[in-house]
Amino acid sequence: MYRTNEPHAFSWYQAEARLSLELIRRVARDADSQILDVGGGASTLVDGLLVAGYTNVAVLDLSPAALDQARSRLGASATRVRWIDADILSAELLGQSVDVWHDRAVFHFLTDASDRQRYVAQARRAVRPGGHMLVATFAEDGPARCSGLEVVRYAPEALHHEFGPDFRLLESAREIHVTPRGTPQAFTYCLCRFEPM
Ligand SMILES: C[S@@+](CC[C@H](N)C(=O)[O-])C[C@H]1O[C@@H](n2cnc3c(N)ncnc32)[C@H](O)[C@@H]1O
Repeated sequence: MYRTNEPHAFSWYQAEARLSLELIRRVARDADSQILDVGGGASTLVDGLLVAGYTNVAVLDLSPAALDQARSRLGASATRVRWIDADILSAELLGQSVDVWHDRAVFHFLTDASDRQRYVAQARRAVRPGGHMLVATFAEDGPARCSGLEVVRYAPEALHHEFGPDFRLLESAREIHVTPRGTPQAFTYCLCRFEPM
């Protein structure tokens, strides 16, 4: 899809990732906090993070075309970001390196329990104790599919349950995202702090 469409044509496009930015800024107090946008695609979150002064931002996606779109939008600023072309389920991430793990509209594509377990294992390895995980999925009353693919929809409790008790739920939020075609989509956000026992 990224090879044949402009970023603002996608249903998930946000001109500004306002809620993600607000929640990240609440927990990432230092400018050099390591922020990883998992499945960031061509999201404008990275633009907002750079404007906010963050100096240690990485965007990971399995679509090189998506990363190219984000890089060309950012122009010279793209060199201030680490771009990781990888599948989050198998990416080799440095242990205990991430201060904020952000995912909007990626986890909900994991319809197999075993893939969800691999995802959580990756987060457990990469997020440093005391770091945070912010994940946004379609809500229980959100769309049942995205880009023709089935998704799993979550209420806040069910989403938090996927991560396990070592991720303490600090806050959940509901957002109605309006697609570029004007369709409302309900999202669930969970912000958790990683406190391994
Ligand atoms: C619905 S888009 C959301 C993009 C971005 N997070 C946003 O909010 O604009 C889902 C993104 O996740 C990426 N993706 C899906 N599965 C992935 C995986 N296993 N590892 C890495 N990226 C993945 C896709 O390539 C796509 O860019």
